[in-house]
Amino acid sequence: MLITLPDLLTADQLRQCRQALVQAEWDDGRLTAGHLAVKVKDNQQLPLDHPLGRQIGDMILEALGRHPRFMAAALPLRVLPPRFNRYAGGGQYGNHIDNAIFNVPGTALRVRSDISTTVFFSDPDEYDGGELIVQDTYGEHRVKLPAGHAVLYPGTSLHRVAPVTRGTRYASFFWTQSLVRDDAQRALLLELDDAIQALTRQLPDSPELSRLTGVYHNLLRQWSQT
Ligand code: NI
Repeated sequence: MLITLPDLLTADQLRQCRQALVQAEWDDGRLTAGHLAVKVKDNQQLPLDHPLGRQIGDMILEALGRHPRFMAAALPLRVLPPRFNRYAGGGQYGNHIDNAIFNVPGTALRVRSDISTTVFFSDPDEYDGGELIVQDTYGEHRVKLPAGHAVLYPGTSLHRVAPVTRGTRYASFFWTQSLVRDDAQRALLLELDDAIQALTRQLPDSPELSRLTGVYHNLLRQWSQT
């Protein structure tokens, strides 16, 4: 499932980040690409240990923790430190599937990439092309969101970033290991959660609310891994 998180970052936060990102020194994105990805990857990345990346990354992680839609949709167990990329001058990233396992830098911890997230730092009118194109069983989804918005998609998806033919596209991307590995199970839990939230507003005194909430928690107990 694809989930949009509107207004993850405020206009103030974006202004600060954008100025710093424009002035930063960027590496060739191929430095972190595997042997297959290196053939299709043409972008720039902020070095993984860049202080600016850590600073903005912490800001993103804090915003995610306060975003009820992220918590409900991702059911996060561990979130990897956000990374940053830049596409310009025809830069693109051809079709690929992200690595399954990532090391948390500076630790022995390994994280499974159940969910991929992109946070847009450029507005759609600032560049041409640059859509994130995600394939699933219903076909291709083209995603190009306002700055400060984010999209979640399954880590299992084949995806690409279309060539940026005008302007510059700045974004952050990162992976989450979910309590629930399977995307279809997470989608069912989110649907149930949404229905319970709606019933809570419409029929707050209904005894069935407790039963449905119980079903939610018992499914989560069945399907989660900690
Ligand atoms: Ni990718």
